Amino acid sequence: MNIQALMDTAKALIAGDKGLLAMDESTPTCNKRFAAAGIPQTEEARRGYRELIVTTPGLGECINGAILYDETIRQRTGEGKPFVKVLVDAGIIPGIKVDLGAKDMATHPGEKITEGLDGLSDRLHAYFQLGARFAKWRAVIAIGDGIPSRACIEANAHALARYAALCQEAGIVPVVEPEVLMDGEHSLQLCQETTQSVLHSVFEQLYVQGVILEGLILKPNMVLPGLQCAKQNSVEVIAEATITCLLRTVPAAVPGIAFLSGGQSGELASARLNAMNASSSPFRSRLPWALAFSFARAIQLPALQIWHGEETNIVAAQKALYHRADCNRAARRGEYSTTMEVA
Ligand code: 13P
Repeated sequence: MNIQALMDTAKALIAGDKGLLAMDESTPTCNKRFAAAGIPQTEEARRGYRELIVTTPGLGECINGAILYDETIRQRTGEGKPFVKVLVDAGIIPGIKVDLGAKDMATHPGEKITEGLDGLSDRLHAYFQLGARFAKWRAVIAIGDGIPSRACIEANAHALARYAALCQEAGIVPVVEPEVLMDGEHSLQLCQETTQSVLHSVFEQLYVQGVILEGLILKPNMVLPGLQCAKQNSVEVIAEATITCLLRTVPAAVPGIAFLSGGQSGELASARLNAMNASSSPFRSRLPWALAFSFARAIQLPALQIWHGEETNIVAAQKALYHRADCNRAARRGEYSTTMEVA
């Protein structure tokens, strides 16, 4: 195993003030978003949309790595240039989603276990040949009546660690994504407690499986009150709860943490990331890892709505995509402000 290469890639993924762009929606998820935006759910529409994203002018100024889906990593622009080459030419490292989705967990109603370990080693080697240098595996943890169970937390943590070990053996940096979902009426405090137990379990399993912490990126949820919780906390309180949770659970050897957006609006995701990185934050000098972003919806959604499947809207959609990426870049420096949102 080339540990130095893994460490170099991990560092490159969170370098400077940039982040990751998740554009790895599975075909069903992509089709669902297209349907909601009134866009035809065809392979050509998905290809055209992903071409719009990867050819956004200046994207490499804000994005270090882009996570692709199996269909997308094999696709090309209308002019025949592989998307992987477009990204590399823009200074963006290609990544790949390798889990096969979160499925209902046996004997645990309301809980999911992520599948995809069988045959993963072969798939990782094939993705490496296609140009991928990092990967993503998403585990999903719901908060509800009596859940998450210990069984759900431990099974998902174990799968994440096995995935991470296989990635590192294949020369691919694992992005380890345990997502505690926002859905529900739960409080900020319950999300913090749940996220803490999930992350404790994940790092224990990573240790047991021999994963090199310096050669991975953690992609957690921010600590948030449930979407249906009557009390919605301020940006500062959320930033403090998130950092407290991470300081208690994530070893300093991990080079970077890149949050998922999880259904937050683009503006809120930027504001909350900004509060964690702000020079006024009491935690700033204590952070052992970079705090970055790996958003899908919070970067893409305005662009998708503007595009609407029409060629004439591509330039405006690319501007909207660049704008959200740029806002998050500012948030990494602690320099984002809502005044950036004024057109
Ligand atoms: P969101 O930012 O839309 O939550 O997506 C991130 C992601 O990659 C989910 O796996």
